[in-house]
Amino acid sequence: MAEEKVLEELGTVESSEAAYAVHWKEEDYYHPSPEFIGQANMTDPGIFERFSLENFPDCFREYAELLDWDQYWHTTLDTSDAPCWKWFVGGRLNACYNCVDRHLARYKNKTAIHFVPEPEDEPIQHITYQELYRRVNEVAAVLRDFCGLKTGDRVTLYLPMTPELPITMLACARLGVIHSVVFAGFSGQACGDRIWDSESRVLITIDGYYRNGKLLDHKANADVAVETASNQNVNVEKVLVWKRYKDRYVSQAPMVEGRDYFMNDVLKNYARATVEPVSMPAEGILFLMYTSGSTGKPKGAQHSIGGYLSYVAAMSKYVQDIHPEDVYWCMADIGWITGHSFIVYGPLAVAASSVIYEGVPTYPDAGRLWRIAEELDVNIFHTAPTTIRMLRKAGPDEPLKYNYKFKHMTTVGEPIEPEVWKWYYHVVGKGKAVIVDTWWQTETGGFLCSTVPALKPMKPGSAGPGVPGIHPVIYDDEGNEIPPGAGKAGNICIRNPWPGLMQTIWKDRDRFVSTYFGKYNKDPNSKDWRDWPYMAGDAAVMAADGYVRILGRVDDVINVAGHRLGTKEIESAALTVEEIAEAAVIAAVDELRGRIPHLYVSLKPGYEPSKEIEDKVSNAVATILGKIARPGRVFIVPDMPKTRSGKIMRRILAAISNRGDVGDVTTLANPDVVEAIRTQVQG
Ligand code: WTA
Repeated sequence: MAEEKVLEELGTVESSEAAYAVHWKEEDYYHPSPEFIGQANMTDPGIFERFSLENFPDCFREYAELLDWDQYWHTTLDTSDAPCWKWFVGGRLNACYNCVDRHLARYKNKTAIHFVPEPEDEPIQHITYQELYRRVNEVAAVLRDFCGLKTGDRVTLYLPMTPELPITMLACARLGVIHSVVFAGFSGQACGDRIWDSESRVLITIDGYYRNGKLLDHKANADVAVETASNQNVNVEKVLVWKRYKDRYVSQAPMVEGRDYFMNDVLKNYARATVEPVSMPAEGILFLMYTSGSTGKPKGAQHSIGGYLSYVAAMSKYVQDIHPEDVYWCMADIGWITGHSFIVYGPLAVAASSVIYEGVPTYPDAGRLWRIAEELDVNIFHTAPTTIRMLRKAGPDEPLKYNYKFKHMTTVGEPIEPEVWKWYYHVVGKGKAVIVDTWWQTETGGFLCSTVPALKPMKPGSAGPGVPGIHPVIYDDEGNEIPPGAGKAGNICIRNPWPGLMQTIWKDRDRFVSTYFGKYNKDPNSKDWRDWPYMAGDAAVMAADGYVRILGRVDDVINVAGHRLGTKEIESAALTVEEIAEAAVIAAVDELRGRIPHLYVSLKPGYEPSKEIEDKVSNAVATILGKIARPGRVFIVPDMPKTRSGKIMRRILAAISNRGDVGDVTTLANPDVVEAIRTQVQG
């Protein structure tokens, strides 16, 4: 389908990524090997029948039964507050108990976490389930007795990829305290806004960490976060600072008397403390995870304990095929949903040995990952297309030099080009590992579309059909179903609720309802789940075999290297620069990172374009949001292309950046500016 056609069919979308999706032909199937099938956790094709809509919602018991419950539920799905679904109502359990305590009987001496520091001369730490249990209990004692935290309180964790992060998360879960983890690469200001929204009284952070060969000062960012929150009247009472090195403080930032405490020191008073896991209602809140949407304000996706944990445990077991004897490595950051679900909660719920790597994949060279895989005997590997593209570029033959053996690999976060998929398959997987391309979102808790690896063949570039229990459908803008195989793109929705779906947006039920259900719900008073298809915000095409190909976002979200950024957030950051009158950001196609932001700005009268202003804008975005949001290019333009009603036409800017067709511009208020911008950008 031509690019313009997708655009046309998506109608309202004007800055959409999907409009610039690469259009692939359907690829041939790849089949799992008999060796893989022979050992797989899920080989029963009957699972799809068991999870058909006729058996909804009771089918989801099968997932919940993977957990240990203190008390079973009386109602599988309560729809009385539609579309805020309640799962496993009446049930009680503890998430930390399920990820740690219950494994001690069989696996206490087995490694739960292999921590690989970035500096290659620092020893790898192997943390057994017994040690994890001890450390989680001690931290839980600190949170409860030193910080006075109790069930339902929120705590912000601003921590990088070190074992202290999952340990602190599990300690929160043990107490029923709600954690809100903020990606360490976000700026202090971005963290402060999230502290403010969640009203956290306690911030847990670290002095520093390694990234790309540099020791970064993280405490300094944490101080900015506390200040940002306090400027908005949320006062952080305690800041607990982990030390990256036990006997050495690596930050330049001073400790504030009466507010800042070294976690390592406080812990000395709680050595060997134990804390009973609090028996929580299934519908209790496990965590908030902030994500970008179509307004400038990030939204806190609120995830439940029972539903979420059941769902991610099932996905780890059946889609990721994790067995306790496997060594599993997910390269995502725990600061994103992938890390929450598929480094911490899912894998630990099924007693995995999970690798946590502190650093960047290509540091100090393109062989680093494969050395780690070889040394730790990793056999399940999980990463994102951006990383795969980077590794392919930096060292296309590196994997073949190392003697590791993967049985299973995952890709997540962005569409993967078939060419890149094939390199992943043949070179990284050495033609032996299955690949699952898992499509899902922060909001959805776990996978939506993917193959169940022993049951369905792979198809490069396609995520696959819905996983068992998920029934995807593609709607056009009027709400008509686009049948599989029609070759037309539309909005992908899920027909039914599932236990991993967030409960709501923290403190903003209206936004939850309107964003995800507003477009296709016809009766806002309905209590019937059939009336509430979940709209993901992605454009997709469904092939005749039911496999789904994701084209990209249809809303004001840009997916940069697998990280979600709100266009409004970037534009607001640009507008903080004094000289800037207007700002518009679009997603430009990038060979390595999938999409990168191109920022178009116009100046207030009296200012002249200069490199200095471009840098100022770029730095403002990086300071306010974090380095990941830094625009690939900043263009100072004479004016923005606008409709007669004054709306900025981002679609036209996107077409210029992507060297596409700008379409008919004669109806604009200022058609001439389009040509001027095109010459400026394309030369
Ligand atoms: C995109 C990350 C294509 C999609 C888990 C979605 C994907 C957004 C895939 C969510 C995939 C995620 N193929 N696109 N396998 N997985 N996406 O919330 O646009 O950070 O809406 O969750 O990433 O990003 P989020």
